[in-house]
Amino acid sequence: MKPDLQLIVSQAEAEFESAKSLHDLDNAKSLFLGKNGKLASLFQRLKSLESAEKKIFGHELNLAKQSIENALFKCRKQILDNNIRKKLESQSIDISLPGRGANKGSIHPLTQSLRRIQEIFYGMGFEIAEGPEIETDWFNFTALNNPKDHPARSMQDTFYVEHKDEFGQNLLLRTHTSPVQVRYSIEHKPPIRVISPGKTYRVDSDSTHSPMFHQIEGLWLDPNINFSNLKGVYVNFLKEFFESSKLTVRFRPSYFPFTEPSAEIDLKFSEGPMEGKWLEVAGAGMVHPNVIKNFGLNSKKIRGFAFGMGLERLTMLKYGVKDLRLFFDNDLRFLGQFRC
Ligand code: PHE
Repeated sequence: MKPDLQLIVSQAEAEFESAKSLHDLDNAKSLFLGKNGKLASLFQRLKSLESAEKKIFGHELNLAKQSIENALFKCRKQILDNNIRKKLESQSIDISLPGRGANKGSIHPLTQSLRRIQEIFYGMGFEIAEGPEIETDWFNFTALNNPKDHPARSMQDTFYVEHKDEFGQNLLLRTHTSPVQVRYSIEHKPPIRVISPGKTYRVDSDSTHSPMFHQIEGLWLDPNINFSNLKGVYVNFLKEFFESSKLTVRFRPSYFPFTEPSAEIDLKFSEGPMEGKWLEVAGAGMVHPNVIKNFGLNSKKIRGFAFGMGLERLTMLKYGVKDLRLFFDNDLRFLGQFRC
């Protein structure tokens, strides 16, 4: 009896279509096209047929095989497409959700202040000089005319380093940026007009002091420089830095071993949250003749003024920050307020 090839083809199509996965489809495929599948046994049967019949049946058989293979191909593609669609649906991105926010960094308020300060002094013709944070006793104290028994040299104020340098000198963490005055002036010829910003260290810690803080030193050496020039330069700086002409500046007599005469510079705002109070912002004075000599210069011919200010203090005053330690806590709620 002649097998109903049409029936086999439609059985195969139905079987393939009901397959839910590639695995199901493979099983169905072997049922019809496999080594022991339905078609294989019919091809087997060909051998025993007469040649005329063989030709006809062989042709029909090949057509049936072709149809089954086409059906298989179509169903495999459907399953693959389906899989991709399901995957895309399960991984879909809801573009209407609010973003998590890209946390952009921002410039630290102290760096912002420092950049502004450098800009202002640069505008007045100052260059920038730097020096080491680990200093010798000579540069930090002796060359700056500090008497041997000056209290600043005591262990209570200064961080000493255990080792000595190659010349047997005591080493310490610089307590101010003034040693850069000496280093720079030994190596350069007047006129000298520099500011030197950097880290400084003292054994001190409370809401207005931290063991590490920043100073900015200023030095102008020239045969004709005088105290009025110091006032002019510094008052101009303060007005620019605080972006206000409504402030009063006072030079209050004071003492530093390395300047004579010496002054503390105080500031009074006539507006804003700090209105009416005198606030100290810097130490300053005319460079002491002994210090000029230590620069290797003739103190009869060369004169100069110097000043030193605290970067944290100026920044606190500018923005109304009450506790200096906030600058070093790295709390983003604090730092984020200075984003610009
Ligand atoms: N070095 C001084 C201090 O740290 C400040 C200062 C600098 C004073 C330059 C006068 C001249 O207190």
